[in-house]
Amino acid sequence: MGLALIEDRDGSVWFDGEPAPTAITVARTSEPKVRTADDQLQFGTVFTDHMFRVDYTEGRGWHDPRIVPYQGFDFDPATAVLHYAQAVFDGLKAYRGKDGAIRLFRPRRHAERLVNSCRKLCIPDLDVDLILQSFHALVGVDQDWVPGKRGTALYLRPTVVATEPFLGVRPSNTYTYFLIASPVGSYYAEGINPVKILATDKYVRAVKGGTGDAKTAGNYAASIYAAVEAKHMGYTQVLWLDGVEHRYLDEVGTMNIMLQIDAEVITPPLPGTILPGVTRDSILTLCRDWGLKASERPITIQEVMEAARNGRLKEMWGTGTAAVVSPVGELGFKDERVTINGGKTGALTQKLYDAIVAIQYAEAADPHDWTTTLAPFQVRQTA
Ligand code: COI
Repeated sequence: MGLALIEDRDGSVWFDGEPAPTAITVARTSEPKVRTADDQLQFGTVFTDHMFRVDYTEGRGWHDPRIVPYQGFDFDPATAVLHYAQAVFDGLKAYRGKDGAIRLFRPRRHAERLVNSCRKLCIPDLDVDLILQSFHALVGVDQDWVPGKRGTALYLRPTVVATEPFLGVRPSNTYTYFLIASPVGSYYAEGINPVKILATDKYVRAVKGGTGDAKTAGNYAASIYAAVEAKHMGYTQVLWLDGVEHRYLDEVGTMNIMLQIDAEVITPPLPGTILPGVTRDSILTLCRDWGLKASERPITIQEVMEAARNGRLKEMWGTGTAAVVSPVGELGFKDERVTINGGKTGALTQKLYDAIVAIQYAEAADPHDWTTTLAPFQVRQTA
């Protein structure tokens, strides 16, 4: 990014370089929190000292970018997002490498996906560079919160919500983009041990023409009922099938799905119903770098179950920012439950996990320039 983050004594932060510097006001907390030890971190339970915020008003555009102490919102009960879920978000991670430097993993890709999600919900475009600056500014201010233990990271949650108090169904005239940060350990209670997933033809996550390829709050709200039912049956997550024929694999909801049948790595294509995962893209790239056949093709649950029955389903795993690369040890569909690779992490899954994690922690070369080192934080003394 080539930007320097500069904090003046008056509490303003600028990015030098291209694009034109943006002034971001910083109000530091007077009550820093006690940080959780790296080996106690779970997913999404603790938050850093500060948050970034910028507001949108019709006619003024996005204005007043600022970093403030982490705090709640004071919303009118009629606020649009509370009624019609005009809300989008994304999720990315900052890692502390073995050299001590902090790196963001594919931040531009996440910023661009957030803008695409906004468009799907008629939320006015945010400038990708402003989103990137928010990542660097907040991580810069809260850099002591980036954990150092392998397997941990600072998870960033950029979010946009409709803030107009109005009960009619139309796009809001005001919005808030906010960014919060949470030091995290592994997403699943299983850690990096295999999870159990249940394919469902009873519930539907997305259909073509809907919002399945956007990261909207509503997609997740609609997934909770099926997820709770699956949990009661002993599964970790739901594997969603397509919304029309209820046959083709879509995604798991918190991660994209991949599997290996014989020597072919397969993942569903992106027909508009599946989130275009950043980790999905990274893992496909690694597979192709290694000369593996990695196909993005429609695949039915019947083909997967049949391959499992006759021993051709070698491995299955999920990919996601929160989940990283998560092995699947058991797959259920209707009355059948199959164990994959003896319920253990497969060799390819492990190799993919090791490879992506090594890039994230700067333990290995980064040939595709996926990581961006945090813009250096400087204090400029003013009179
Ligand atoms: C992510 O992987 O970043 C997600 O957003 C998945 C889940 C935590 C909602």
